[in-house]
Amino acid sequence: MIKELKEALRFAASISFWRMAVFWTISLFISYFQLHTNWIFSRRLQSYPRCRPPISESLTPVCIITGATSGLGAAAAHALSREGFFVVLVGRSSHLLSKIMTEIKTQNKDAHVKAFVVDLASFQSILEFKSSLQQWLLDCKLHCSLQLLINNAGILATSSRTTPEGYDQMMGTNYIGPFCLTKLLLPLLKRSPVPSRIVNVTSFTHRSVFDVQVDKESVYGTRFLRSEQYPFARLYEYSKLFLILFSYELHRQLGLMDQPYHVSCCGSWKCKNQYHEGSPFVSFEFGISSFEVFGPFAVTKEWG
Ligand SMILES: NC(=O)c1ccc[n+]([C@@H]2O[C@H](COP(=O)([O-])OP(=O)(O)OC[C@H]3O[C@@H](n4cnc5c(N)ncnc54)[C@H](OP(=O)(O)O)[C@@H]3O)[C@@H](O)[C@H]2O)c1
Repeated sequence: MIKELKEALRFAASISFWRMAVFWTISLFISYFQLHTNWIFSRRLQSYPRCRPPISESLTPVCIITGATSGLGAAAAHALSREGFFVVLVGRSSHLLSKIMTEIKTQNKDAHVKAFVVDLASFQSILEFKSSLQQWLLDCKLHCSLQLLINNAGILATSSRTTPEGYDQMMGTNYIGPFCLTKLLLPLLKRSPVPSRIVNVTSFTHRSVFDVQVDKESVYGTRFLRSEQYPFARLYEYSKLFLILFSYELHRQLGLMDQPYHVSCCGSWKCKNQYHEGSPFVSFEFGISSFEVFGPFAVTKEWG
């Protein structure tokens, strides 16, 4: 108990904790402010009508959701399976994937779901996933294309770890993995007979990056590993900023081809679930709850 308390106090005294407490709160307020002023003055808001998935006899729309075993990903999997998508769940744990598949099937026995074990922090695993996915589409006699890719998996790791390829684990999971997966699956998305879509789940925290340095060392996360304390808050902000920049560039490049693809960034509001990794649970909880400024604004994962 004393050890946990010491760790919690050390965490609460760290720069990353105060960065989260101060900068992330300000970023959250700015996001809310912009959202509400846009609603009120709605000049800059472009709204898109909600469309039904393009189901026909020749096409069952297929969507891939990464990080589908919990939180926002699981909520999206439930919602999209109800809409008639063939939902492909991606996660690292076969046990958790089976659990969510059973839950979806229990709620809707006609739901189409398939799960793949993939570690987004490993190039090898992503490459294997691409081949297995193509084989599975062939075996199931589904149209060899994808209609929706949701890059949702993400972590907030409070201790330093590296991926099998030597990148920072958080950068690997939140940015490098989704980047590689999207690039590899792009041919399948382009082959879709109906407009396809890529959704990258980002965060309001990118607003806290003031001194962006877009170079290899930052993208690999190695720039940040030199400091004494693991600067997890900064790394998380950077990973989400890079995902946004990638979305803009991909949207621009696809737009130049004049094809009906769509790349969206969706930033979640603070949701009532955890996505931190590698942290002593009690210390993280202590740290967060001792500064629960976000509390009143937290929403459910379905809403998120
Ligand atoms: N919750 C919030 O308040 C909030 C706010 C802003 C943005 N976001 C963003 O929203 C997304 C979802 O957040 P959440 O709160 O729903 O998270 P969560 O409940 O912790 O779920 C994270 C998911 O990512 C998966 N995952 C983690 N590392 C992975 C890896 N290397 N390979 C494959 N899958 C991996 C996990 O699956 P396994 O552990 O089973 O592998 C899990 O399904 C994240 O990108 C997060 O950054 C969340």
